[in-house]
Amino acid sequence: MPAARITRLTESDWEQFAELRLRALAETFSTSDKQYLAEARFTPADWRRRLRDHAQFVVVPADQPVGMIAVHQESTETAYVYSLWLEPAARGRGLGRKLVAAALDWARRRGVRTATLRMAPDNAAARAVYEGLGFTEIPTGSAWGEVVMRLTLA
Ligand SMILES: CC(C)(COP(=O)(O)OP(=O)(O)OC[C@H]1O[C@@H](n2cnc3c(N)ncnc32)[C@H](O)[C@@H]1OP(=O)(O)O)[C@@H](O)C(=O)NCCC(=O)NCCS
Repeated sequence: MPAARITRLTESDWEQFAELRLRALAETFSTSDKQYLAEARFTPADWRRRLRDHAQFVVVPADQPVGMIAVHQESTETAYVYSLWLEPAARGRGLGRKLVAAALDWARRRGVRTATLRMAPDNAAARAVYEGLGFTEIPTGSAWGEVVMRLTLA
């Protein structure tokens, strides 16, 4: 099988981005979830703006994208990684790691020194991907909230 491609979406890909993002929200939460309903009302201009403001990468093992990740440069020093998702049939093949690595490469090329992200404390698959790439948990003092992870970029 050929290696999966990682591609950064541009504004002209907004329909593909909208379709994948809404599929991710529906699968992760549901089509009655507040976030899903808000983004389902996005106009083409809203999707285009998101593609302009934040880098969005998709993974394409054959001819269709099966997963995505987003990264946003928060300051000259830091980038925030979010919205990692693979459709269920594409999990367990190392594609999650490839997506996170692409987001980190993008941040490195921009001279960013630190990447952060948030995850649910019981998400073992996500934790394995992030820790495998060197992220470590930052103590937040929260007993049950989201976990914050950080990586210093070389
Ligand atoms: C999180 C996610 C992107 C992981 O991507 P993936 O490509 O399926 O990850 P892989 O199957 O390659 O697994 C990566 C590592 O996690 C481990 N892993 C996978 N599923 C696991 C599980 N349920 N429990 C523990 N470890 C698990 C693998 O063994 C592997 O470890 P290794 O690198 O030491 O071999 C994917 O599961 C997903 O899309 N989940 C739903 C959305 C989500 O949770 N996103 C993260 C939000 S923070």
